[in-house]
Amino acid sequence: MNRIVVTGGKRLVGEVRIGGSKNAALPLLFAGILTGDVCVFSNLPRVSDVLQSLEILRFMGARIRFHRSGDVEVDYRELRPVAPPASLTSAIRGSVYLLGAMLGRFGFAALPGAGGCDFGNRPIDLHLRGLGLMGAVEVPTEEVLTLRAAEGLVGCQFRLPLPSVGATGNLLMAATAARGETVLSCVAIEPHVQALAAFLRAAGADISPFEEGTVRVRGGAPLHGCHVTVIPDMIEAGTYLCAAMATGGRVMLQDVVPEHLGALLWVLERMGVRLQIRRDSILLEAPERYRCTRIETGPYPAFPTDLHPQMAALFCIGGRAVGEGSVRERVWQSRFRYTEELRKMGAAVRIGGEEARFVPSPLHGAEVRSPDLRGGAALLLAALAVEERTEITNAATIGRGYEHLEAKLRALGARVRVYG
Ligand code: UD1
Repeated sequence: MNRIVVTGGKRLVGEVRIGGSKNAALPLLFAGILTGDVCVFSNLPRVSDVLQSLEILRFMGARIRFHRSGDVEVDYRELRPVAPPASLTSAIRGSVYLLGAMLGRFGFAALPGAGGCDFGNRPIDLHLRGLGLMGAVEVPTEEVLTLRAAEGLVGCQFRLPLPSVGATGNLLMAATAARGETVLSCVAIEPHVQALAAFLRAAGADISPFEEGTVRVRGGAPLHGCHVTVIPDMIEAGTYLCAAMATGGRVMLQDVVPEHLGALLWVLERMGVRLQIRRDSILLEAPERYRCTRIETGPYPAFPTDLHPQMAALFCIGGRAVGEGSVRERVWQSRFRYTEELRKMGAAVRIGGEEARFVPSPLHGAEVRSPDLRGGAALLLAALAVEERTEITNAATIGRGYEHLEAKLRALGARVRVYG
C-alpha cells in the first residue's frame, strides 16, 4: 500500500466487521516462542506488522501454515536462538517482545533494533531493568542488543514507575520461565495485555488475575502449545466510529468488545452522538453537527493514545464540528506530526507543549503524507469528510494496522482507491 486516493463527501452507511487486534496479535506471536510447541491463532489480522512478525519467526526457524479456515499455525519447535536481521526487526515495534520471549526459552535474547511509529524517543529502560532483576545481563556488542541469563531467570519483585504496555508484556513472558514467584506492580492493564496473560495461562503458565495493577506469576514450569483467538481490534473499531462521525454516517460495527472502547464511547456521547451498544456490536448514528470536546490520553482505561489523532481530525472538520477541541497527549509527546499534514487540508491547529487545540474550519483536498499509522488514519478521516480529491502518500504506514482497508471503506460507500 503506497498511496491512498480519496474523494470524500459521502456519508458512510452500513456494517463493518472488526478484525483481530494488531496490538494483541504481535505479543501473542512472540510469546508462542516460550511454548517451544505448536500454537494455532484464530482471527489473526492480515496487516503488515503481523506478516512481518511471522517473517521474523520464520527466519528463526518457526514453520508457519496458513489454514483455509483462516487460522494460522506456528510451529515453534525448531526455533533457534539467533538474532534476526535488523531489516526485519526494525520495521515493527512488536519485535521488542523477542527480549522476554527469547530469554524465557533460551536464556539468551538478541534484538538488532525495534521500530514502529516514530514518536521521538521510545525507551526500553523499564524492560531492561525488570529483566535485569530476573538475572538477565546485557552483553556489550557493537550493534545488537544482547541479553544473557547464564544461570536461568529468577523471580523478582518489580514496581514499574509507569504502566508501560511493552514492559509489562516482556516481563510477564520472562516471568513465566523464571524460577519462583515474580510480583509485578503498577503494570499496564490494556485489553491486549490481559489477552497476553490469558494466552500464557492457556499455555500452562500460573499467572494471577490482575488486581489493582499487580500481577503474580509462579514461573519455571514448561509451557505447551495451545489455540488462541485474537481479541477484536479496539483501535480499528474506534477508527470506523470516527469515520462515521466525519461523514455524518450511520455505521454498525460487528465483532467488537464495547467495554474495551469505554473511554471513546463516553467522549462520543459527550459530543452528542446516539449509540446503540449490544454485547458485540455498536451502532453509531452521527448527528449533522457535533460538539468538540477536550480529551486527555493515558494508560487504559483512559482515552487511548492510538485514537487521539482520529479524534483530533474530527475536531478540525468545519461544517460538522462546533466549538473548540483539545487533546492533551500524555503518552507520546511527539505524536502531533500529523497536524502539519492536516494543516495542508486547511485545519486550524495550535500546539503548546503536550496539548493541541483545534478550531473547526473549512477543509479541502490536498496531497498529504502519512507520518505514522494513526496519524495516517486521521488524514484519511479528514479526506473522507471533504468532497475534493485527497492523495495520501507513504500509506504503507497505514497498512501496518488496518486490515482490508479499501474493501471495508468501499463497502460503506466511500470513494477510496489504494495503490501499490
Ligand atoms: C504505547 C501505548 C499503547 C500504544 C502504543 C503505540 C500506553 C500506555 N501505551 O505502547 O497503547 O498501542 O504505544 O502507540 O498507552 N516508557 C519508558 N520506558 C520504557 C517503556 C516505556 O519511559 O521502558 C514510557 C514511554 O516513553 C511512554 C510510556 O512509557 O511515554 C508508555 O510506553 P509503552 O506503553 O511502553 O509503549 P508501547 O508499549 O509502545
